[in-house]
Amino acid sequence: MQQAKKTGPAAIELHNVHLSLGQGAARVHILKGISLQIAQGETIGLVGPSGSGKSTLLMVMAGLERPDRGDLKIDGQALATLDEDRLARFRGEKIGIVFQSFHLIPTMTALENVAIPLELAGRPRPFEQAAAELAAVGLAHRRDHYPAQLSGGEQQRVALARALAPAPSILIADEPTGNLDGATGTEIIDLMFALRRERGATLVLVTHDLALAERCDRKIPLRSGEIETDATTTAVTSATAPH
Ligand SMILES: Nc1ncnc2c1ncn2[C@@H]1O[C@H](COP(=O)(O)OP(=O)(O)OP(=O)(O)O)[C@@H](O)[C@H]1O
Ligand SMILES: [Mg+2]
Repeated sequence: MQQAKKTGPAAIELHNVHLSLGQGAARVHILKGISLQIAQGETIGLVGPSGSGKSTLLMVMAGLERPDRGDLKIDGQALATLDEDRLARFRGEKIGIVFQSFHLIPTMTALENVAIPLELAGRPRPFEQAAAELAAVGLAHRRDHYPAQLSGGEQQRVALARALAPAPSILIADEPTGNLDGATGTEIIDLMFALRRERGATLVLVTHDLALAERCDRKIPLRSGEIETDATTTAVTSATAPH
């Protein structure tokens, strides 16, 4: 049978999400009524000026910040109904995150860093699988190296392997090439797109690189905590772009 396009619930669904962070006078209303739907397997380039709320929106989508108001569903599951323990487990299984500054644990080897989420999720043979994940990002020969012994590009490969190891349905990346030179960044992005396609994961990517955003199925432009609705900036211009 021909592979049918996945139906079912949206990968990510936000309805009128508001979020303020900070205390007292430093409190900032960051997200101001964000509504969006991201389909399973879709790739999204989240773009916008510095301070527009991109990272904050990613944190909400990842279940790391709870909205003050509005609804959030991941794969049809309303996150507001989950207590902290169940939310943490849900996150661990459904969502992989890659940050600009890698966020590896410095006292652990590459292999151990990749094995952590597998151990936490109670998966069988976490180290064997972690080794396979490292091989998938081309780092089989660096498994016993510590982060400080790895180049920036290698560290980001480890972070990518760690994010994808639990087979999340959603991969979230916040400026994953921001600390890398152009050529290394391109390698990481090529790898990220290839692996996410292989595994059918949804990708939400924050980037300042417009060429990179163009590689996504859809761009979502954020400005001052709101999605810009100007049709010329939200049009799907790259549906046929190679991934
Ligand atoms: N914990 C916090 N407390 C108070 N204000 C915050 C907090 N986190 C972020 N902000 C503010 O919220 C706004 C959005 O921040 P955010 O990090 O989401 O922006 P961004 O679009 O990711 O920017 P950049 O492109 O520079 O990474 C900024 O004005 C920031 O100062
Ligand atoms: Mg940011």
